[in-house]
Amino acid sequence: MAAAGPGRGPLGGVPRALPCSPIRTGGALVSEPAAVTVVGIGDDGWEGLSERARTALRDAPVIVGSTRQLALLPSLGVRLEPLPSPLLPRLDDLIDAYPGLCLLASGDPMLHGIGATLSRRVGAGRMRVLPAVSSVALACARLGWPGDEVEVVSLVARRIEAVLPALQPGALVLVLCRDGGTPAALAELLTDRGWGASELTVLEHLGGEREVVRGPVAASGLGDQAFAALSVAAVRCRPDPGTALLPRTPGLPDDAYESDGQLTRREARALALAALQPVPGQLLWDVGAGSGSIGIEWMRVSGRCRAVAIERRADRAERVRRNAAALGVPDLEVVNGDAPAALAALPTPDAVFVGGGLTSDGLVEACFERLPGSGRLVAHAVTLESEAVLHRWQRRVGGRLMKLAASQAEPLGGFTVWRPALPVTQWQVTRP
Ligand SMILES: C[S@@+](CC[C@H](N)C(=O)[O-])C[C@H]1O[C@@H](n2cnc3c(N)ncnc32)[C@H](O)[C@@H]1O
Repeated sequence: MAAAGPGRGPLGGVPRALPCSPIRTGGALVSEPAAVTVVGIGDDGWEGLSERARTALRDAPVIVGSTRQLALLPSLGVRLEPLPSPLLPRLDDLIDAYPGLCLLASGDPMLHGIGATLSRRVGAGRMRVLPAVSSVALACARLGWPGDEVEVVSLVARRIEAVLPALQPGALVLVLCRDGGTPAALAELLTDRGWGASELTVLEHLGGEREVVRGPVAASGLGDQAFAALSVAAVRCRPDPGTALLPRTPGLPDDAYESDGQLTRREARALALAALQPVPGQLLWDVGAGSGSIGIEWMRVSGRCRAVAIERRADRAERVRRNAAALGVPDLEVVNGDAPAALAALPTPDAVFVGGGLTSDGLVEACFERLPGSGRLVAHAVTLESEAVLHRWQRRVGGRLMKLAASQAEPLGGFTVWRPALPVTQWQVTRP
């Protein structure tokens, strides 16, 4: 570890004392003028904007926004530009041409909006954000729901199955809809998956003159109605009798998966995920993905966990995709290819699970060498040949070898016997 310098904390690079923060006025750094001001605008348009937001718009060299948002502004004598496509690369050109431009965004730009993307691109210090009230805050206000107990799922750019991990008894879920068909599609999914008894409320044009709150109704009773394109669907989750609950903690029942038998069993899977340590924002490689269970359960822990499943057989890769959608993580990336060759083009992982291919030349090396410091590798072997590979690696770089053996009580005649599953050798190691 690097020595902590004067005024530095134990992590070396992190200051121990709070650095003097630059003076902020109106949300902008005085020391560095904002290259972009992001102005959140609600359904109530100009009327609902703060004086600060209005001044920013009046003083802007150019205002960029969607056609709908630009139409909400009165005539300000400022040049208006429709959102370019593709947005981000074109935005760089616009910022160069018009430093200090204003970008319109819906509600709170930092909540499932353009603000977070822009912050990563131009840097927080070069942008100023003037939020309006978010649709989430407005929905909570209308429903009397505590904002800190609500899970928000945006389906604006995601497949509808992404809502599934949020379905837990009593959960309050706000779904940001992609279009007017989303509430009906959501109701159909809830009904199909045993959550038709959930209370569904659709809130249209929140904060605007055309605001309407429809419901609650049982999801199973919504039918095929269309709603306003700008709507939030609120779900108070209630399972139908007999619906199997699927928690977000690892170790789903084996029968939650479609499988051809290539599946890491529940007990071994739970131990593997405990060792892999899913961290929101981190990336897992699931090498030799089989039915996809490890990557799927890694991603179910948090909407911010990312995973790539690598599987050599095309039929299994397809099955991984189906399982990922059915279990609520349709964003799992599936690579149909042979490891280690298929790993070369992948982004650096934070953790790697090897469930197949251990005897392939250079596979463990390719996984271990790509891990950064603190990266975790967990591998499972069932055959003597793959166990020998793990033993060699454990002697070379350390880590922990374990034998996992689980037996299940099953009837035999009029008696009960222990039916053992194939024992699994697990190697877990963290890169120094
Ligand atoms: C035991 S299964 C893994 C089960 C998986 N962990 C699960 O729970 O669904 C092993 C898989 O590794 C795949 N495999 C074997 N060698 C491979 C390689 N070199 N590259 C990619 N996949 C491989 C096999 O096709 C098989 O589907």
